[in-house]
Amino acid sequence: MKSTVELTKTVKAKPSRNGLNYFVKTFGCQMNEHDSERIAGLFEYDGMQKASSVDEADVLFVNTCTIRENADDKLYGTLGQLKKWKGERPKRKLLVGGCAAQKDKELVRQRAPWVDVVIGTHNLTNIVNLLNQTEDWGPITEVIEEIQSLPTDAPSIRESEVSAWLTIQIGCNNSCTFCIVPSVRGPEISRRPSDIVNEAKAMVASGVKEITLLGQNVNSYGRDLKINGSSKPYFTELLTELNEVEDLKRIRFTSPHPKDFKEHTLQAVNELSKVSKQIHMPLQSGSNKILRNMQRGYTQEKYMEKLYLAKETIADVSLTTDIIVGFPGETDKDFEETLKVIREGKFDAVYMFKFSPRPGTKANYMKDDFVEKAIIDSRFMELKHLQTEISHQRYKRFIGTQQDLLIEKYSKKTDEFLSGKIDGGQTTHISSETVQIGDYIKVKITDATPFALTAVPV
Ligand code: SAH
Ligand code: SF4
Ligand code: F3S
Repeated sequence: MKSTVELTKTVKAKPSRNGLNYFVKTFGCQMNEHDSERIAGLFEYDGMQKASSVDEADVLFVNTCTIRENADDKLYGTLGQLKKWKGERPKRKLLVGGCAAQKDKELVRQRAPWVDVVIGTHNLTNIVNLLNQTEDWGPITEVIEEIQSLPTDAPSIRESEVSAWLTIQIGCNNSCTFCIVPSVRGPEISRRPSDIVNEAKAMVASGVKEITLLGQNVNSYGRDLKINGSSKPYFTELLTELNEVEDLKRIRFTSPHPKDFKEHTLQAVNELSKVSKQIHMPLQSGSNKILRNMQRGYTQEKYMEKLYLAKETIADVSLTTDIIVGFPGETDKDFEETLKVIREGKFDAVYMFKFSPRPGTKANYMKDDFVEKAIIDSRFMELKHLQTEISHQRYKRFIGTQQDLLIEKYSKKTDEFLSGKIDGGQTTHISSETVQIGDYIKVKITDATPFALTAVPV
């Protein structure tokens, strides 16, 4: 880390916005969701309170994603709609941050001149200062290339009372040829283990029962830290330390990288009572040619070795993966290799994406080999059908079994049901008559779809 801005300097500057309402609209991954909790924390520290909707807000922060082209399209659509919102009350402030702002600061300004503040991913903790400045000086853009302060230094207002994100590492040192993340999130920086454990303890003291450790490549956690010359396996050690945190019920983590997954980590997942028996192992493609061109650092064979090691080491492990369909040069034969791994792997869930060329990435220059859209669409559907069937089989294995369920929120469709996750990460619905948010209870699984389970209290 280059330098850390003191929180007090960042947020105690004038003026306090007592009585104003803020809203944070988030696109993208868990990192962004967690950053949004930090932004909410900084806004509340400044005296604002959360609005119930965008319409009620005086200050709106749009936290953007740019992982695929449709994320960019969605952003400019949203900013277009917000012109009217801003026009209704000129004193309103529209702030745009996150990965797309980091990548395209000028474009955001050009396409939406009504935006007051454009802020990058590296200086999030400066947001209240920028808000102050825009009141005096008008529109402002502050996007910097190097991290100024870890967002983890800021207070945070969580969406969930019982389940919390905990950043252990930011940025990424890999160079997957399709991926824009390293260019918008910078190089890998690990937080110190003592900071992480202290944050976990503080979370538990405020009622949190489950934490999810966040990083782009969690099993390389700590490589950049000098911890008393120790050569210990840091990520495994961190899990072991967190497992000791009193009253914490469950620990999850995402995302590990298959090439860096170590046997001792798998053993720790099996042995540590609080670590959930769930592993996300992003494959991307089953074809060795494509994996090489993606610069993923493993072959299908090496991946399968780790996958089977995970299945052997961790009793009844739940596995999930990511697949990109239609990477440049992907032939029917290459795609068949992906289907083969999916058939053999028996994942609980597969997150599927259609390849999207991103500016500045190597794959963006493979234009001669781009796969036709119609072919990508049909491969995507084929994969989806295959996995839906497999997911359903996998989910059905729980019917009749007893599981530990942490109840997190009301289910999206009806107040009659609450939902949460069992240890393996499967979303589970339960009648709200007998249980409440925050309960960590034994349940019996009564039904399964390919995407969720239903349970009754035992
Ligand atoms: N660090 C994580 C991935 C973060 S991005 C990891 O390595 O697992 C989440 C997922 O988005 C990736 O796993 C990949 O499947 C998908 N993705 C990333 N860039 C993409 C692109 N250009 N087109 C399509 N999918 C992409
Ligand atoms: Fe992107 Fe690869 Fe880093 Fe994941 S590991 S964030 S896919 S570059
Ligand atoms: Fe996440 Fe999207 Fe940025 S996936 S890291 S919010 S580009």
